[in-house]
Amino acid sequence: MWRKTSVSNVPVLLCHEHHLQEGQARGFDPWHQGRDTVLALKWKGQIKAYRNLCPHLDVAMQYRKDRFMSGDGQHIVCFAHGALFDPADGSCLLGPCLGQSLQALEIHQDEQLNLWIH
Ligand code: FES
Repeated sequence: MWRKTSVSNVPVLLCHEHHLQEGQARGFDPWHQGRDTVLALKWKGQIKAYRNLCPHLDVAMQYRKDRFMSGDGQHIVCFAHGALFDPADGSCLLGPCLGQSLQALEIHQDEQLNLWIH
C-alpha cells in the first residue's frame, strides 16, 4: 500500500480506480464533511481530482449529485453561472472566473488500484 510519511499532509482514500469512468465526473466526500468536496474523473486516460469549489464565488459547482459536466461532455461546468473548465487541468475557459483554475489535488494510486488524495 502507498503511504506518505508527512504528518501534516495525510493522504485520504478517494475511491477505487474502477469507480471512475472516462469523461464522467463524480463527487466525493473524502473528509466526511457531509457534502461532496471533491470531484474526480478519468480524462483521456488520466485520473483528475479537483476541489469542488468554483473560483468565482467559492461555491460547490454541481446542481445535483454527480452533475459536473457540460451537456456535450467536454467541460466541467459550474452550474451557478455557467463557467466552463478544462477537465485536463481545471483552468477556466469561459465565464466569470476566466483565467482562474479549479484547485487540483495530487493523486496517488496504490497496488490495489485505490486512489488517494491529499
Ligand atoms: S459561482 Fe461558479 S461561475 Fe459563478
